[in-house]
Amino acid sequence: MANGLDDVVAAETVLSDVDGAGGHLTIRGHSLTELAGHWRYGQVVRLLFDGFFDELPGDDELEKAIGNARVEVFERLQPMLAGLPALDVYSGMRAGIALLPDGDSLADALRLIAAPAVLTPALLRLGRGEKPVPPDARADHANDMLRMLSGTASPALAKALDTYLVTVSDHGLNASTFATRVVASTQAGLTSAILAGLGALKGPLHGGAPGPVIEMLDAIEASGDAAAWLRNEIARGERIMGFGHRIYRVRDPRADVLKAVVRRLGTRCETGSRLAFAETVEQAALDVLRVAKPQRSIQTNVEFYTALLLEAAGFPKEAFSNVFAAGRVAGWIAHAREQQATGRLIRPKSRYVGPVPDLVA
Ligand code: COA
Repeated sequence: MANGLDDVVAAETVLSDVDGAGGHLTIRGHSLTELAGHWRYGQVVRLLFDGFFDELPGDDELEKAIGNARVEVFERLQPMLAGLPALDVYSGMRAGIALLPDGDSLADALRLIAAPAVLTPALLRLGRGEKPVPPDARADHANDMLRMLSGTASPALAKALDTYLVTVSDHGLNASTFATRVVASTQAGLTSAILAGLGALKGPLHGGAPGPVIEMLDAIEASGDAAAWLRNEIARGERIMGFGHRIYRVRDPRADVLKAVVRRLGTRCETGSRLAFAETVEQAALDVLRVAKPQRSIQTNVEFYTALLLEAAGFPKEAFSNVFAAGRVAGWIAHAREQQATGRLIRPKSRYVGPVPDLVA
């Protein structure tokens, strides 16, 4: 048995399919390229939620309801935020989300969609000694998130962030989605299930990778020799962040979507030189990994260009996993509802390999 449950099918889902050999991602019957850059995040939330909540309204009404949920979450949690900036921004967000009601209704789900988008900018601002900017219920979700972060949101950056949120909205039975489904299978509420997902997403092998990608790019820039720096990391037994995937054996399709977004921003937001440097590092990493791990096809994953996109959008690297959570929460909620609907507790077995008690004759 593989320790990582490799190739084990642990759920049936209508939500998304990751084709690791072909490098395709399907979200509820739509290819990633059909959705990213064309559908708004609120529309994808509706796509994922469809059939999992009785009273689901149309796209426009749902986006308005998400806006109202942002305002509600802000008003509900603002009095409790003062103590949270002492935590790192991810832990602060998780602590804030833990304060939300733990039900299964659409209102509960929308508060959970709203919460990372509201809490992340508020905590970042409080951490800088600034007052949080309240949400605007009428604004588009991504646009409002940027506005709450820095007071303004350029249409280009809002569009880039919206495309990012769509791109990461769901991705098969990844570690955090599995964790979410396990908790949902106990019929615990959605907040409990989402807190499980948040715990799993934090780790650097999963959603914690993009912050370290920025650290890697900065360290390589300072060293002046990408290949030597990367070879040295591998020799020390370290993993190169932003590369490799349990399922994809070819390039992660999300990497190309996000790279194209960063390229479009480059001309407008002067991220062009950062992108050119990142492309050099990417090529060097692929070359180094091909030689160091010839037995495995290790390709660029979503986190590499996530790092550049979120940096361009104005988020500090400490908050990158928060923004990932702001997108993935839609998938987590839909998976939690899908799992709850099966009515089946997830309860695998372990094989005992420890010492046995002495048998008294
Ligand atoms: N850098 C260096 N080596 C890597 C690597 C990376 N990014 N990704 C995989 N490998 C190595 C493993 O250490 C292993 O080597 P070994 O056989 O010599 O022990 C080999 O490649 C096989 O790994 P594989 O089974 O394909 O990977 P996995 O499924 O265990 O790991 C990840 C998948 C994502 C955890 C892994 O690729 C990783 O740690 N990547 C860096 C973190 C990251 O970007 N995470 C975000 C994922 S979207």
